[in-house]
Amino acid sequence: MLRVLVLVSGGGTNLQAIIDAVAAGKVTNTSLVGVISNNKTVKSLERARNAGIPAVSVSPKDFPDRDAFNKAFLEKVDEFAPDLIVLAGFLVAIPAAMVQKYSGRIINIHPSLIPSFCGVGYYGLKVHEKALERGVKVTGATVHFVTEGMDEGPIIAQKAVCIEEGDTPEILQRRVMEQAEWLLLPQAIDDIANGRVTVVDGKAVRTR
Ligand code: GRF
Repeated sequence: MLRVLVLVSGGGTNLQAIIDAVAAGKVTNTSLVGVISNNKTVKSLERARNAGIPAVSVSPKDFPDRDAFNKAFLEKVDEFAPDLIVLAGFLVAIPAAMVQKYSGRIINIHPSLIPSFCGVGYYGLKVHEKALERGVKVTGATVHFVTEGMDEGPIIAQKAVCIEEGDTPEILQRRVMEQAEWLLLPQAIDDIANGRVTVVDGKAVRTR
């Protein structure tokens, strides 16, 4: 069983998609061992607890400086002894020490087709605002391994989503979630849990 720890900052609809896919048997060989949020009040913690998953919050605001937070955060992550860490809308920069310690074992969902609309400053609704501003006709979502460069790790899976007349950032965000994110992230976890993803020469390859 792959021990999966999910990190969240917001409403947690991606977390819910993972919980539902595990419960429905669409994601196998997986145990959701914990959820960590950097925000005490978010709905994600409630979603986790409703599913019987231990959920805790660790916020940078509770520590005197970033180093103290990073240390406490890594200790909290370690307590769950995860095989895989899933960033499901997690807006805190992952400390370098954690990226190194869990190298090849952290994945992220990003709401665009990387390398478009990604990197520093591209998070949440901003990604969709930029896509609409540029006038692209197709956007989507990407699941990738996390490395030290932001949104630069090996790409595991992508799914395209069409932009439609009259889209606002909010409408587009919802469509990208429904048509791409909620499917891609559980699928990627299932693939990793069942040994279907390996990294060869810096690229993620689906092996069977
Ligand atoms: C998602 O669009 C995710 O890709 C982005 O933040 C959003 C999180 O949504 N980085 P939720 O908390 O899973 O509902």
